[in-house]
Amino acid sequence: RTGARVERLPLSRFTTLGVGGEAEIWTLQGHAQLHEAMSAPYRILGGGSNLVVADEGLSERVIRLGGEFAATDLEADPQLSTSEQLVTGWVGGGVPLPGLLRKLQRLGYSNLEGTVGIPAQLGGAVWMNAGTRFGEAFDGLHSLEIVSPEGTRTVTPAELPWSYRDSGIPRNHIVTRVRLKLRPSTPELVQEKMDAADVARKGQPKNRTPGCAFKNPTLPSGERLGAGKLIDEAGLKGSRVGNAMIAPEHANFIVNLGGASAADVHALLALIRSRVGVDMQLEYELWP
Ligand code: FAD
Ligand code: EPU
Repeated sequence: RTGARVERLPLSRFTTLGVGGEAEIWTLQGHAQLHEAMSAPYRILGGGSNLVVADEGLSERVIRLGGEFAATDLEADPQLSTSEQLVTGWVGGGVPLPGLLRKLQRLGYSNLEGTVGIPAQLGGAVWMNAGTRFGEAFDGLHSLEIVSPEGTRTVTPAELPWSYRDSGIPRNHIVTRVRLKLRPSTPELVQEKMDAADVARKGQPKNRTPGCAFKNPTLPSGERLGAGKLIDEAGLKGSRVGNAMIAPEHANFIVNLGGASAADVHALLALIRSRVGVDMQLEYELWP
């Protein structure tokens, strides 16, 4: 055995929505365990903050990044850094983004503060290019290590076809670790930017949720619409199926009032699709 921890557990424990049946969870401690973990059908779990996992659970194993993939080396690499740009050592894909941002703020390192309030792991935030209108994960990346059953490669953002909420990294390629590209600033200035980005969250619900349900759609004319606004205008705020509800605070959030099922959430997504006249792409991932 290679030493990965393997347990059968409900995914409701690992998702911010608090929904999901059982799966075999492989918690990896290091690179040596990747090969065996990827030798059968698998899914990659980050912070579980964008997932709606089926009540029946999953047949695939679920890989979690622990051990060396949860380590943070923010030491500036002298060969890659200049006075304007600081490139760090490796930061693991399993590192929780909120704690990482706190460390960067204390050091006065800028570039990633636009992602404040996103309860992801670094690898998940990078894979989705999570962000807000104040910035996105790709603002602060120098290079990434990506592992798949075909092997390991290190790429720079310039080599990826990334865009809004999309890194261009294929599904089931694991973002194992990242080098950050940061701009030296001061703790006070970084905090100010984080506060500004955080203000935009004041209207978001406090209940358990996997974040926004739909991406903001772009019309063929190029005009960007708000998914929350569209759902709100369709009169759907407060709609409830079982213990899931379209949040009264912001209509693009579905919340778990306690004991909701994935089926409840699916029913609300179908209701939204049937009542909003604009085609909207789902932002959540539905497992399976
Ligand atoms: P998961 O939810 O665990 O997984 C999502 C996908 O990423 C899956 O396909 C998974 O396989 C893949 N993945 C995870 N880790 C890795 C990895 N290491 N390598 C490869 N693939 C991986 N999102 C925004 O963009 N902006 C926001 O402002 C925002 N606000 C939110 C607020 C709240 C309260 C919540 C609950 C969510 C919010 N989200 C937001 C959604 C969510 O946090 C992001 O989509 C985030 O990127 C998901 O990352 P995760 O680590 O939780 O991934
Ligand atoms: N609005 C309504 N009704 C609603 C919700 C919003 O009228 O029910 C209006 C607001 O009044 C505002 C406009 O729609 O005029 C935009 O709303 P908001 O500022 O909340 O921004 P958003 O586009 O709905 C985006 C991201 C969020 C991110 C916030 C803040 C998407 C899909 N959503 O929301 O990201 O936190 O900006 O930066 O891009 C996520 O991706 O999971 C997420 C939460």
